[in-house]
Amino acid sequence: MTSTEILSGSKSGILRAARILNDGGLVAFPTETVYGLGGDATKHETVNRIYTAKGRPENNPLIIHVYDEKRARELVKMNLLAESLANSFWPGPLTMVLKQDFSGKLKIAETAVSQLETIAIRVPAHPVAREILRLCKNPIAAPSANMSGKLSTTRFEDVQACMSGRVDAIMDGGPCPIGVESTIIKVQDEIISILRPGTITEEQISSGLGQSFSEKKKTEKKISSPGQFKSHYCPKTPIRLNIIHPRADELLLAFGPLPAGVKGLSLSEISDPHEAAMNLYSSLADLDELARITKSSAIAIQPIPKIGVGIAINDRLRRAANRLQ
Ligand code: TXA
Ligand code: MG
Repeated sequence: MTSTEILSGSKSGILRAARILNDGGLVAFPTETVYGLGGDATKHETVNRIYTAKGRPENNPLIIHVYDEKRARELVKMNLLAESLANSFWPGPLTMVLKQDFSGKLKIAETAVSQLETIAIRVPAHPVAREILRLCKNPIAAPSANMSGKLSTTRFEDVQACMSGRVDAIMDGGPCPIGVESTIIKVQDEIISILRPGTITEEQISSGLGQSFSEKKKTEKKISSPGQFKSHYCPKTPIRLNIIHPRADELLLAFGPLPAGVKGLSLSEISDPHEAAMNLYSSLADLDELARITKSSAIAIQPIPKIGVGIAINDRLRRAANRLQ
């Protein structure tokens, strides 16, 4: 058991977080997407502690977080396409998988990227995350702050529930405004493939590039991002998808107003997909707890249109429903 400090999202909390990270410790902190569990990506021991704290298989590489594009360039090779995407979307919720640049002084621990020749690199936009990264001398490996295979966390109390005693500090930075993890794309020569959908959509990437994305997109056959595994993001309670009317012993996760007399929660009373994304993991966590108390058989989830961020929401829900026993 590690004793876990609780930090505020104020200036002093940020300074303390950076200090702990610079000393090789683990800190859970907010990003605009979900909470991250950060540690110095250049230190083998620190990286090993991240895998242990999450119970994560070591063949599932971590996203490396840096303050800006300049720092990203110390780690990865950025071609014109990657540069143009960075100009359009960084800082922000777009992670790019790029070839490592092994010629630089800075060396990422091999285990951080599961011995791959690529790095998934991200420049987050959340002001607290940015300030922490600015103050860190090395890049920060930060998977989502949850136990492997379970729900990602977008609220301080959910991070605390799963990470207390496993990390050196948890920052209370309030709820994460986006709510689903970053879009991950692989940029290889002139080809972009989406490895994980997020709030930045294929259409936005096309318009950011000023050219059709479909020309550049090739679908990847093999799983090169284990977050793509069919089962992931699982609550304890079984999930049933695309249900309008739940059974009597089920809870409902509604998209739109919660029908009268039905037990459950609404992701967005006004059917706004961005609000639904923001509430996704916290609502699932609350319903999981309510299901335990009320001995409900399942969480039934209403259909959510598969457009825009709705694609990412449906992706996560499908994996949540696909839990392996
Ligand atoms: O929004 C996010 O991306 C959050 C916040 C904390 O930044 N982080 C996050 O990390 O979602 P994590 O570890 O939960 O998911 C990272 C995904 C995993 O599916 C992993 O397999 C994939 O990124 N990944 C990491 N490095 C990769 C690489 N070099 N090639 C392909 N996939 C990679
Ligand atoms: Mg994760």
